[in-house]
Amino acid sequence: MDAIVARVLIVDDDAASRRLLEVRLRALGCETAMAADGQEALAAIQQELPALMLLDLEMPRMGGMELLRTLRRDAVDLPVIVITAHGSIEAAVEAMREGTYDFLPKPFDPHHLEIVVRKALERRQLVQANRLLQASLDARIPQILGDSPTIRQAAELARKAAGSNSTVLLLGESGTGKEVFAHAIHRWSERRDKPLVIVNCVALSEHLLESELFGHERGAFTGAHQTKKGKFELAHGGTVFLDEIGDMPGALQAKLLRVLQDHSFERVGGTKSIRADIRVIAATNRNLDDAVKEGRFREDLFYRLNVMRISLPPLRDRMEDIPALAGHFVTKYAAEVKKRVRDVNSQALTILQAHTWRGNVRELGNVIERAVVLCSGDQIGPVDLALSGSSSSTATSSAVVPTPLTDFHSQVKAHKQAVIRTALREAGGNQTKAAELLGLQRTYLVKLLRALGIRANGGAER
Ligand SMILES: Nc1ncnc2c1ncn2[C@@H]1O[C@H](COP(=O)(O)OP(=O)(O)OP(=O)(O)O)[C@@H](O)[C@H]1O
Ligand SMILES: [Mg+2]
Repeated sequence: MDAIVARVLIVDDDAASRRLLEVRLRALGCETAMAADGQEALAAIQQELPALMLLDLEMPRMGGMELLRTLRRDAVDLPVIVITAHGSIEAAVEAMREGTYDFLPKPFDPHHLEIVVRKALERRQLVQANRLLQASLDARIPQILGDSPTIRQAAELARKAAGSNSTVLLLGESGTGKEVFAHAIHRWSERRDKPLVIVNCVALSEHLLESELFGHERGAFTGAHQTKKGKFELAHGGTVFLDEIGDMPGALQAKLLRVLQDHSFERVGGTKSIRADIRVIAATNRNLDDAVKEGRFREDLFYRLNVMRISLPPLRDRMEDIPALAGHFVTKYAAEVKKRVRDVNSQALTILQAHTWRGNVRELGNVIERAVVLCSGDQIGPVDLALSGSSSSTATSSAVVPTPLTDFHSQVKAHKQAVIRTALREAGGNQTKAAELLGLQRTYLVKLLRALGIRANGGAER
């Protein structure tokens, strides 16, 4: 077996049992420290936090229970295994309430000692790894940026919604930050330590989406070899973000309505009613009012979702935020590609402020990312942006041809390039979406990109 590399603090007033534990733990590879009572233990912990503490309860000068309470009050992050003498079950149960991890009955069996110690240390390692992972994830979730009244109002509303358990409906064009807001609401809510589970309602077929959301029982359909919990169950205590809710198939809309109304549902193929304590945040870039009128979206579900409705402003309605947003993206992408690009110069800023941002913040982010890569100095200039002036070109507009009248073929090529760039921009760089916008097969679009020398994100190939 592997040696256990960890520092363990042994707290016991009986010198003989301290010694015995020390010998056993060292044999396992542990480093040990000793204390004869609670006060000595506190001093030792202050000096160096061990990975684990073995604690006797009966001791003069601050007993084990008092030490446990003190550690808990000070939120000291230290797993504890209590050493229980024969017949002290009650005290052990009380210690468990103070957050003790496990017991070790006296006299100890060496194998039992090893198992208990290993288990405690493994668990600690898992908890720490999980915390690190969580922290790195949190760092990747963007903050809500922007100081314009429209975005501030939306953020204010989101903060209020976060304090309640109400369903939140996020509306807004593509790239306006619906997902950013969903994360923020979860993080601001009391559910923050529980999972935020994201489900894209358009990415899966109806059948798969149903089992994804509600889970299924074993044998519910061909291929259901095992019972599987759905996202609603997995999110228990937390938040479910239903993205692209406007595209949810009708049959599932009815089932979702029931979840929102009485928090219960059945797994696919199951009869047992399952309850889940969840808050739902839904988002769509579709016009739900229209979808209801046209019968594509259930009216009762719409009202149920529409409790807290937050509309995210398109970027063109908050152009005053562009300098700050652009600055943020410059810092972010410069750090990513390790370039010393500082900011955007004033001519480039004028272009950014004149552009029609159909892809909203996402598009701005993409433009700046490309500009940072292209930029050769420490300031982004107009050329780096690769935006055609104040162009508000659309795929159908004939005003997109930026070249003066030259020969036919180069004009057609320029026009094709402009149309494709616009589509890519609108699709936030997503080629599948861009192809859809243009009514092309994705493979054909890829061919065109190559033929026209357009980089995948819409910029020119250099
Ligand atoms: N207010 C904002 N503050 C900071 N970043 C933002 C904001 N709005 C959008 N972004 C950035 O823009 C990008 C798109 O945002 P997000 O994915 O939240 O948009 P969305 O509304 O969900 O779009 P879609 O409808 O296409 O899914 C992300 O990279 C995000 O970091
Ligand atoms: Mg989204």
